[in-house]
Amino acid sequence: MSPKNTEAYIAADVKNVWHHLTLHQGRAPMIAVEGKGLRIKDINGREYLDATSGGVWCVNVGYGREEIADAACAQMKKMAYYAASGGNLPAIDFSEKLLGHMPGLSRVYISSSGSEANEKAYKMVRLRAHNSGNGEKRKILFRYRDYHGTTIGALSSTGQPERKECFGPFVPGFVEIPHACCYRCAFGKSYPGCNLECARAIEGIIQNEGPDTVGGIIFEPVTAGGGVIPPVKEYYTIAAGICKKYDVVFIMDEVVCGMGRTGVMFAYQHYGVVPDIVTMAKGVASAYMPISCTVTRETIFDSLQDAGDRLAYFRDISTFGGCAAAAAAALENIRIIERENLLKNVTAMGEHLLAGLRENLAHPNVGDVRGKGLLAGIEFVQDKKSKTPLPEEKVMAICGEAAARGVLFGRTNRSFPGFNNVVNIAPAYVATRADVDIMLATLRQSIASVLG
Ligand SMILES: Cc1ncc(COP(=O)(O)O)c(C=O)c1O
Repeated sequence: MSPKNTEAYIAADVKNVWHHLTLHQGRAPMIAVEGKGLRIKDINGREYLDATSGGVWCVNVGYGREEIADAACAQMKKMAYYAASGGNLPAIDFSEKLLGHMPGLSRVYISSSGSEANEKAYKMVRLRAHNSGNGEKRKILFRYRDYHGTTIGALSSTGQPERKECFGPFVPGFVEIPHACCYRCAFGKSYPGCNLECARAIEGIIQNEGPDTVGGIIFEPVTAGGGVIPPVKEYYTIAAGICKKYDVVFIMDEVVCGMGRTGVMFAYQHYGVVPDIVTMAKGVASAYMPISCTVTRETIFDSLQDAGDRLAYFRDISTFGGCAAAAAAALENIRIIERENLLKNVTAMGEHLLAGLRENLAHPNVGDVRGKGLLAGIEFVQDKKSKTPLPEEKVMAICGEAAARGVLFGRTNRSFPGFNNVVNIAPAYVATRADVDIMLATLRQSIASVLG
């Protein structure tokens, strides 16, 4: 390797690079240098099967996609950038193609990260309130356990206390609602005899806050980093009905699930609802380029046009939302998903993965297995009766053991006091049955090695 040798690179990493989410302990992290499909090689030549799609569920079509690199490269050579107040050809083609997968939605606002896409949605809710003549209708509800990003607005609307610790004060006007995890029902009930209290509670919260003050609600369709929680099938129909009744903008944060992760293009499509605003990021260009979108219904778009006030239109900009090469990469990414019929593979391999994970339920420390498509989680407990969570260190040890055996898994990472007990698995959409079998076998061996 040039110009530095391996040791020099590692030393320079430790000295100069500040890694995300990582307590600096003077140890180099895994430094990935190449990848193909689901497999990556680190700086020491060690190979891993990556069951995390790049650590944070984004390299969805797999590593080594020359088509995406070529599309971005050709665009950069021809026309790299012009601000998104103007246009570029790949953004036009990409937006048209994207909307083809989103019946009922009609406008694509491009920016560059998931947090930013959500911030745009919040600004839209606030401007809509202003333009409607009631500027107070701007509170936004968010769900306990959902994550919406790292910027202060997005973090203010995140239901993960450990993520927020030390970073306050937060933005006023965000209100937490209960989670939708049946395994730990917030209402002490069990589905289907629960009357969907978790969804119905939203109405009471809106009434308590004052319907004239609540402008929006944001959900992760399947809570991802918060422990992989797909709500039951009626949940969003009830939530959407409440939104309609109280004129509350229904926002779906598809930053993780969007672009096929759960086996349909957008996870809300499993639930038969059409949100008012959909945000997406990670899978938009499978992380080959940074690009995110805030997609709206025409009614939202209309409400954010000039309302007779010189400044009351959506005056917002994102410098990198104008990167033509990112749009070119995103266009190629969707084409790959379509051409290779990857949603079908996500569904088939997702079922195989979930069925295999469920076999672990026989283990005394495996409390629950959840998932949809190629997004799965396995919740560890000290004992099944009390459901006391397994300590975070043990869950880390399981992932560490798996990594030592050559498979990378994810886990809830310092998100909830005492509840960082879910290992998650979200491989690229090109995973084969053999790949999934390796993941399952490695997880089983790692559990046995750490927990007996
Ligand atoms: C559901 C969800 N929304 C938003 C974000 C924030 O995205 P970004 O890190 O691109 O800002 C994330 C990131 O993990 C996420 O999981």
